[in-house]
Amino acid sequence: MAKRVALVTGGGDCPGLNAVIRGAVKVGVDKYGWEVLGVEDAFNGLIDLDYASPHGNQWLTSHDVFAILQRGGTILGTSNRADPFNHVVRDASGNTTTMDVSGQVMENFRKLELDGLISIGGDGSMRIAKKFVDRGMPLVGVPKTIDNDLGATDQTFGFDTAVQVATEALDRLRDTAESHDRVMLCEVMGRDAGWIALHAGLAAGADAILLPEIPYRLQPLVDMVAKRRRRGQAFGVVVVAEGAHPTDGEQSIIERKLGAMPRLKGAAARLALELEDLIEPEVRVTVLGHVQRGGSPSSFDRVLGTRFGHHAAELVQRGDFGKMVALRGDDIVAVPIGEAIAEPKRVAPGGELVATARALGVCLGDE
Ligand code: F6P
Repeated sequence: MAKRVALVTGGGDCPGLNAVIRGAVKVGVDKYGWEVLGVEDAFNGLIDLDYASPHGNQWLTSHDVFAILQRGGTILGTSNRADPFNHVVRDASGNTTTMDVSGQVMENFRKLELDGLISIGGDGSMRIAKKFVDRGMPLVGVPKTIDNDLGATDQTFGFDTAVQVATEALDRLRDTAESHDRVMLCEVMGRDAGWIALHAGLAAGADAILLPEIPYRLQPLVDMVAKRRRRGQAFGVVVVAEGAHPTDGEQSIIERKLGAMPRLKGAAARLALELEDLIEPEVRVTVLGHVQRGGSPSSFDRVLGTRFGHHAAELVQRGDFGKMVALRGDDIVAVPIGEAIAEPKRVAPGGELVATARALGVCLGDE
């Protein structure tokens, strides 16, 4: 009998989500004759089946995924505050609190007579997925995030596009830095992982790259600027990961909300305030923010998303649940979801990429 399968995108959006949706729908519907339910706004559409009615959850056909490969965002909508195990609600006196509504999700899953769920998300979504798998939900995970911080896969889709966007921005900043003899600080996303900063910084030939994994001091940056001046280069480009922090300071967190991860912003602005008193060139700050998350995915992310969508659908068809698809070398493999969330992937301060940056004279803020 034809299967009924739900698709959900959770956490922050990222380029390539629509490629996964398209891949899974085309394989599920066209190859295996499934009915596919697109769940609205992460788990919100399964917590409450009338959520966002009448435009909430939708049964998807191949027609619905026509020409979405090149589109950023997710046609299903998403939320980074839709954890059914810690669902944010308002109590009678208007205060927000969390409650466990995972039972409701299990019940609605049964009501819809679903045979499987494909959950596309990052670290937080995979933790939620693991809890549902432990409760017996037939679920397959697909790893996404621009941060590239999921341990079990060589790369997540979305990362490549974010690096391209950041690289292009750095190239542009270098031009204006040189015209005005300024030091440009560019803050990029990545949360506690410095992958976007390191890759974009290397790709754009940045003069300094500050990572969450390597706490920085001001003096090495001051020395870098002075050294460049002696060489006749009175400008500089510094990439600041949003999670970067000084050796004697914490990460720059601007907001803590119930049911959400702390929001990072301001790392570059804080550095600018301290640096401008210590160096001659003027300092300017650019925060790239969500520009890195939107827009058309790179061809790499389109292909990776398509492969993940295809392989996730094959796992569901085989009934091979509790797994997450992952890129290993040239292959797409299936790993237990528990393995996917065991170890976050961070930049190794003693690793090859950092060594390459140092060998090329890039200042990492520590020496
Ligand atoms: O995890 C992806 C990410 O873009 C991080 O790099 C960033 O810190 C965070 O999400 C921003 O989240 P929000 O969209 O809630 O501001």
